Amino acid sequence: NELRIFCPATIANISCGFDVLGVALDSVGDEMVIRKVSKKGIHIIKLEGQDLPMETHKNVAGVAGMAFLGESDYGGGFEIEIYKKIKAGSGIGSSAASSTGAVWGMNQLLGRPFTTLKLVEFAMEGEKLASGVAHADNVAPALFGGFTLVRSYEPLDIIPIHNPKELFATVIHPQIEIKTSDSRKILKTNITLKEGIKQWGNVGGLVAGLFTEDYDLIGRSLVDHIVEPIRSILIPGFNEVKASAIASGALGCGISGSGPSIFAFSKGEDTAEKVAQSMKNVYKKIGIDHDIHISKIN
Ligand code: HSE
Repeated sequence: NELRIFCPATIANISCGFDVLGVALDSVGDEMVIRKVSKKGIHIIKLEGQDLPMETHKNVAGVAGMAFLGESDYGGGFEIEIYKKIKAGSGIGSSAASSTGAVWGMNQLLGRPFTTLKLVEFAMEGEKLASGVAHADNVAPALFGGFTLVRSYEPLDIIPIHNPKELFATVIHPQIEIKTSDSRKILKTNITLKEGIKQWGNVGGLVAGLFTEDYDLIGRSLVDHIVEPIRSILIPGFNEVKASAIASGALGCGISGSGPSIFAFSKGEDTAEKVAQSMKNVYKKIGIDHDIHISKIN
């Protein structure tokens, strides 16, 4: 009647795929305990590690859980304990970890009445609360694992993508907070056909590169002509960090989700470590507090 689960952090967008591409990280994430109780509804009884609201309708796990209960014939409720390790506003899917953890755990405890796709839909309600937009590019990889593509939102169509065996992600988090809702407001709402052509060429290239484990193609495709030029202005030392990651052998480097975290992909763990060192050095030199993680993509 009780489960303790790991809820992975995620990198959304992956440079070219704004709101459609994402990947789960297996070495960074929260923990949650989900417990079946007779009292109806979702009850967040513990929340450690971050200062976030515990009222059901203000908490992303609560809102996602209520969406689940709304379509379930289960007559009882759930208690939830959340142990946050992912910082809110860090750009690695903090809200998605909590909302997906809740619905995944609840589904397990009830004998899996819902498909993973349906769980994505419930978890998107949590994203809507957190950012104002029900984007699925963090919750889909958190639930499916590895890389995912949101091929379509209406109807929701999620495509799990192959994970190349030697791919590692380095993620550095400068210690500032950027709210996704704020970093969405500064984006342009129109793009030119010319920009579109470049962008969807790279999305196709990245997906093909991941499926065929073509690391050079992955690297060539990690380019963002639309969002990165605008959002990178909010991230201290972004251009220097990116240049140093590439110079140290990274396949590519960009903003993780809505930032401020910056991710780099590398082939092999040794390169990922060199890349981590060089990214850290940039922040040490300009005096920016940060933390950094390396994850294998599984
Ligand atoms: N696709 C979303 C955005 C991800 O970039 O706003 C937020 O984590």
